[in-house]
This record gives sequence, C-alpha cells and structure tokens, in this order.
Amino acid sequence: MAAEVKKIAVVGAGNMGHQISICCALAGLKTSCIDVSAEQLRKAESFLRNYLPDRIARGKISEKDAGGVESRLSFTGELEEGVREADFVIEAVTEKLDLKKELFRNLDRICAPQTILATNSSFFVSSLLASETARPALVCNMHFFNPALVMKCVEIVKGPHTSEETAGVAMELASKMGKKPVLLHKEIYGFLVNRILRRIMDEALFLLDTGVASAADIDSAVVNALGHPMGPFTLMDLTGIDLSYHIAMERYRETGDSAEKPSPTVVEKYVRGEWGRRKGRGFYEYKNKG
Ligand SMILES: NC(=O)c1ccc[n+]([C@@H]2O[C@H](COP(=O)([O-])OP(=O)(O)OC[C@H]3O[C@@H](n4cnc5c(N)ncnc54)[C@H](O)[C@@H]3O)[C@@H](O)[C@H]2O)c1
Repeated sequence: MAAEVKKIAVVGAGNMGHQISICCALAGLKTSCIDVSAEQLRKAESFLRNYLPDRIARGKISEKDAGGVESRLSFTGELEEGVREADFVIEAVTEKLDLKKELFRNLDRICAPQTILATNSSFFVSSLLASETARPALVCNMHFFNPALVMKCVEIVKGPHTSEETAGVAMELASKMGKKPVLLHKEIYGFLVNRILRRIMDEALFLLDTGVASAADIDSAVVNALGHPMGPFTLMDLTGIDLSYHIAMERYRETGDSAEKPSPTVVEKYVRGEWGRRKGRGFYEYKNKG
C-alpha cells in the first residue's frame, strides 16, 4: 500500500519537521518541507547541507544517494505549493491545538481528496483534528521520537474515525523509512511510550521525595539493572524540568485529579529556575549551560 505513497509533505521545519523530512527523502520519497518561518526553513536547509557530507564521511551514505536526497527534498514557505500532489501529509507544527485545527481545515481544503493527513503531535489525539476535515477516515497520529533521524520507534494511533487502510499505509510508510512502527488500536492520552515513561518518572520522583535513594543512585539502578541508556533524572535534565512541570500541570487542569500534580521536587526545581542542562542546574550541575 505504501508503495503508492510517492510524495510527502511535512508541515513544520522545526526540531521534528526538518528531521522527518530528511527521513522521507532518504527513503526515496519526493518530499517538501513547509514552514511559515523563513528563518526555520533556512536553518533546515543549512542542517541538510552539513548533515549529508557528514553521513558520506562516516560511510553511511554514498555521494550518489546524498545527491538523490537533495534533489528529492525541497523547502517552501507556501503551503499550497508544498502539498501539491502530496499523497501523505505529516503535520509537525507548534504544539497548539487551535493552530493545528486551522491547519487541518486548510489542508482538507487544499489537498486532493485521497491525501492522508497525519499529525506528529505528542499529546493531541487525531480525533481532535479529524473533526475539522471532511475526510476523518484519512486522519491519524504518526508520532516520531526526537531525534527523528535516529530514533526507530514511531507510534501510529488509530482513532475511531481512522480507516484500517490509513493506519496500514502509515505503518508501511514508517517501515519504508527504516523505522519500527507500533500500532495503537485506540486513542489514549500520552500514547504508549510517554505513558510508560511517565510511570517510571513518577516512581523515580517518589523514591527521591521519600528519601529512599539519591537521584544519582536511582539513575544508576535504571541504567545498570534495566539497561536504559540514561536514568530518569538525567533524562528530565535533558528534556527540561520546566517541561515536566507544565505537562503535569496541564494534565491536572484537564482532569482535576490531584495525583496528576507535579511532584514536590519538580515544583521546587521549577520555582528556583533549576530546569536542567539548559540552565546549568537541575537534578545535576553542569559546567556549561545549554
Ligand atoms: N520536540 C520533541 O521532542 C517532539 C517529539 C515528538 C513529537 N513532537 C511534536 O512535533 C510537533 C512539532 O514540535 P517541534 O519540537 O518540532 O516544534 P518546533 O517549535 O521546533 O517547530 C514547530 C515549527 O512549526 C512552524 N509553524 C508554526 N505554525 C505553522 C504553520 N501554520 N504552518 C507551517 N509551519 C508552522 C514553526 O515556525 C516552527 O518551525 C509538536 O506537535 C510536538 O508535540 C515533538
């Protein structure tokens, strides 16, 4: 089925979008990467210009294949031009529901009636967007992980509106990109990976907050006993304690369930501005910020 997907449009050239675009072009697909920000498009093009020679130098790709990627991948600020003839659109714009809704309305209007519209959103299920379109059966979640060029897992989430065929095309497409897609048969907040991660983080914070062990020892146990590449506190420092705080608060506001509130340690670190690696201090101290 995915063999029929010949052209992809990725909307958003930010952190995720520009990498997803390169994954598509590496898989041999004609790809256009679209963003409203000229600065982001410039950055994405400049990343590609450095990325390809680096891959050639490491022997991961031939000069001929790199040339193919450059000829297949184009960047544009014009939505209509970018999605022209696209069989599959991956939306990777800023995580704001109203923005995504408006974009899906526009995509539904502009794209051919058979074009599949997928969202890379980490938290919004596709039924929130499918209802903005006249093609709900062709809408699904296709959630890549950061960095998308490296991470193999892609979560394909089938909403009640999504057809079997649409989910199948998304699965095959991800496989074609060299990914290891997983299928969720129903929509659920946080999908698979972030739900499991959340439980691990919550338990790690409980063990820290109750004085059972230090952050360093909990991280060490998770790395050396469970085989994770990094412990939960190292990971929170990397992704940002402010992000952990906001996600928990948002969830608490939505559900009213006090169990969803951020842990006391996360609140304390958030208030002190100790947000992790970016700030030079989180659960650990860092010599260099960023
Ligand atoms: N960053 C992550 O770790 C991660 C991981 C998985 C999924 N996601 C999801 O991917 C999406 C994008 O996240 P990101 O981290 O790449 O964000 P980002 O802020 O790096 O990039 C978002 C891009 O969207 C562009 N944009 C905004 N409105 C637009 C519009 N109407 N048309 C075209 N472009 C528009 C912005 O200019 C920006 O370049 C979000 O939904 C997020 O939940 C993020």
